[in-house]
Amino acid sequence: MKDIGTIEQADLAKPEFYNLLAQQIFAITEDQTFWVTNLANASAVIFHELNSLDFFQQKPINWAGFYLVDPKNDQKLILGPFQGKVACTEIVFGKGVCGAAAATRETQVVRDVHQFPGHIACDSASNSEIVVPLVVNNKLVGVLDIDCQEKEGFDQQDKVGLEKICQIIVDHCSWE
Ligand code: SME
Repeated sequence: MKDIGTIEQADLAKPEFYNLLAQQIFAITEDQTFWVTNLANASAVIFHELNSLDFFQQKPINWAGFYLVDPKNDQKLILGPFQGKVACTEIVFGKGVCGAAAATRETQVVRDVHQFPGHIACDSASNSEIVVPLVVNNKLVGVLDIDCQEKEGFDQQDKVGLEKICQIIVDHCSWE
C-alpha cells in the first residue's frame, strides 16, 4: 500500500487544498485500474481530507461517494463505493441532484438541498450538495456526490477542484 500521507495544513485556501488532494488521488489510483478499488479509496480520501480542512470543520461533510450508471439500464444510477450513512441504491436520470447531474452531464452545486426540486434526502443531515459527472470518451459512467451538513457548503472552487479530481479518477480506471 502506497503511503500518501495526509494534508497537514487545515487553513489552506481551497485551490491549494484541491491541488494536494489531486496529488493524493493520483498516487492512490495510478497503479490500479479496477474502478471499485479506485472509487472506494477515492471516496475515503475525499471524505476525510475535506473534513480536515478548516472550512469544512465549520461545515462538515456527512457523505461522499459515487453512483454508477446501471449496466442493465443506462437511464439509472446505482450506488457505488462511499463514506457515510446508508444511502438510496437507485436514482433515475433526471431525479434529484444526482439524476440532474447525470441527465445534463453538468456539475450541480446546490447551496440548499431543500430548495432543489426533487432532491432525494438519503441522510436528513444534508443541507447542501455537489454532484460531478464522470464522463469517459463522451459517455457518462457515473457521478461523484458529496453532501454537507450546512447550507452553502460548496462553491465554484470546489466545482473546479473536484472536476479535476474526477478526471484523474476516470483516466486511471478501466471502464470496459
Ligand atoms: N441527495 C441525492 C441522493 C443521494 S444521497 O445524497 C447520498 C440526490 O438528490 O440526488
